[in-house]
Amino acid sequence: MSTVTLTRLKAMKAHGEPIAMLTAYDAGFAYCAEQAGVDLLLVGDSLGTVVQGHATTVPVTLDHMVYHTALVARAAQRAMVLADLPFLSYATPEQAVASAARLMQEGGAHGVKLEGGRDVVAAVERLAAFGVPVCAHLGLLPQSVNKLGGYRVQGREADEARRLKEEALALEQAGADLLVLECVPAALASEITVALTIPVIGIGAGGGCDGQVLVVYDLLGITPGKRPSFAPDFLTGHSDGINGALRRWVDAVRQRTFPA
Ligand code: KIV
Repeated sequence: MSTVTLTRLKAMKAHGEPIAMLTAYDAGFAYCAEQAGVDLLLVGDSLGTVVQGHATTVPVTLDHMVYHTALVARAAQRAMVLADLPFLSYATPEQAVASAARLMQEGGAHGVKLEGGRDVVAAVERLAAFGVPVCAHLGLLPQSVNKLGGYRVQGREADEARRLKEEALALEQAGADLLVLECVPAALASEITVALTIPVIGIGAGGGCDGQVLVVYDLLGITPGKRPSFAPDFLTGHSDGINGALRRWVDAVRQRTFPA
């Protein structure tokens, strides 16, 4: 068990204490992120793009996720470790349970994250029933990029915004413990954050969420290819290296100066 628990994260939401979540894919970065004070380490399937060099997260397999989760979990002392269920590894509740078992038992994750709204409610219910901490993920869903036709802001139209809010409530009702909101308008993200009792962590979703998450390579300015506009480089121009950059980002999240 980690020192940072779901109870602690809920208390942080209740007290308005911003939560810092950062991706990590190996022991070295997990160690640095913990030293910087992050609450949650996410073994994101973004490793498909930033580590493996693919164009999308679709080629990432459960075996890849188990391997990288084990690297991170070995270094984590304090932070809660969440691992992404990769593309099509949770298409049914049974598959979700089997995949989560591998990430938690072989990988050492404390919980899992999965993308989607209504279609994953049954999987979330089943995971929650068996004691698996679940982080839901709404808004831009990178695993669906081939269907979406690109990476763009979601929830700009009123009906889409309504659907996202309904799905967020349905996921909470189903037993999700956390929600990541990716690339949605700031006003909608704030509205959903207020409507839910579980902590909401934003990425490209403005400053009104309960916490922030970034891909660690983005904030270090070492993204292969184009860095998202919502992820400033916290390393370049400073002399205190990677540890300094990670500390600067965590401090900025805590002080709500990130996102600007
Ligand atoms: O895979 C990932 O790193 C993620 C974050 C961007 C939230 O899902």
